[in-house]
Amino acid sequence: VFIPPRPKSLPALAALIRAGIRRDGNLIALLPAEVYRKPSAWIGWSRRGILIVNDPALLREVMADSAGIFPKNDLFTGALEPLIGDSIFTSHGATWRRQRAMIDPAFGHMKLTRAFVAMQAAVDAYEGRLDEAAASGTPISLDVAMGELTADVITRTVFSAPLASATAREVFESFSFFERTVAHVAISRLIFDPPFKRIPHQQAVLQACVRIRAALGALVDAHTAARGDIAGDVMAARDRATGQGFTREELIDQLGVFFLAGHETTASALTWAFFIAATQPHIAARIRAEAGEASIGFEQVRALPYTRNVFRETLRLYPPITFIPRVAMRAARIGRHRVKRGTMIMVAPWVIQRHHLYWPNPDAFDPDRFAPEREARIVPGTFLPFGLGPRICVGAAFATTEATLILARLLRRFDFEVMDAGKVRPIARLTTRPIDQVMVRVRRR
Ligand code: HEM
Repeated sequence: VFIPPRPKSLPALAALIRAGIRRDGNLIALLPAEVYRKPSAWIGWSRRGILIVNDPALLREVMADSAGIFPKNDLFTGALEPLIGDSIFTSHGATWRRQRAMIDPAFGHMKLTRAFVAMQAAVDAYEGRLDEAAASGTPISLDVAMGELTADVITRTVFSAPLASATAREVFESFSFFERTVAHVAISRLIFDPPFKRIPHQQAVLQACVRIRAALGALVDAHTAARGDIAGDVMAARDRATGQGFTREELIDQLGVFFLAGHETTASALTWAFFIAATQPHIAARIRAEAGEASIGFEQVRALPYTRNVFRETLRLYPPITFIPRVAMRAARIGRHRVKRGTMIMVAPWVIQRHHLYWPNPDAFDPDRFAPEREARIVPGTFLPFGLGPRICVGAAFATTEATLILARLLRRFDFEVMDAGKVRPIARLTTRPIDQVMVRVRRR
């Protein structure tokens, strides 16, 4: 069995001390060993109180939340506020319901077949880039490569514009800066801050947000609903009750979300998947055998079960959204726990998907767990890389199609050799990433 890299889990105090020494803000290294074995656990060192919820029945209470007691966590919405305001990703209640109803259709099955054509074009272009890297023999960063490829998929599917266009590039660069800066959650804030504390943003972050919003605004102004892409659909969407569409500012919010939620996440998962396939030749060989030589259209992607299961197993062990934090808006009960107003409720795909009560051999990489004859044994509610309940990711099918296509296409054409594979370690930033960039040498097969 292959156990891919993970931080060694330690008792609570030792984990806290290790985090204090390293000071890299790595939240997954901070998790005490017991959280992987208990249905729920309090994290003792936080002033606001942090309850980790693993048990599927408790999870459903938090994530279904029909009463609106457990909205998205204030630390999280506060960090994203200057960028995406009150968008679908961060809003709640009636505002969110209206937005979700207007946005859902843009990601339906029929729309996915249309987006697929743009995905293929992005992969075609990227093969060319990798051909050059292979010819020159210069190592490339896997993280950067996947970030660019998935950003290109987003700009092509949302705006019908390749990343190479100037405005798309501007959005991408400013987003990367925003993510690098905002991603660093100071652990001291989790320890000492009271809940709902407003934290001022750094000037440079606010400026990046202004640049992103200006560039997105330019894309919106140049666009028409008739384009037949995701932006076009969202522009054409009307509120059922009032007949109103989104305002220009709202459009900027929502399209910003697609960029934020839709590219780093997929890039993170693909970085891990390529790292694993490159270091485990039998996995790459099975993907290549399944992919064959023929062109891979939409229907063919759906017929690549092993490749898709490699992606799903990667999402299990390296969920891009490491933590899905909520907050209790009032005193409440979760199972036998009483929580105060302001308690952080931590739903952690990273923990639940490596949990000893729910997964046999939890840390082993085994894509065949998802094979039809074994999939039925997965405990419902314990595989949640895309979330759970009403707030589940709108882009889940989109991302799965995209990632399966990219894995099949690039692995059958190239060999990837990871340099310093033994040094690769995960960290939870905005997404689950390798601590240092993963450098690979690319060769044409
Ligand atoms: C592997 C890739 C992806 C992963 C792991 C992922 C994960 C998630 C998760 C966990 C949530 C729920 C967060 C919560 O409940 O707090 C979410 C929400 C969302 N995702 Fe994704 N996502 C991915 C790709 C995408 C893509 C490609 C798009 C769009 C192009 C997208 C758009 C969204 C949106 C709009 C929401 C907010 C939904 C709502 O609150 O109603 N995601 N995603």
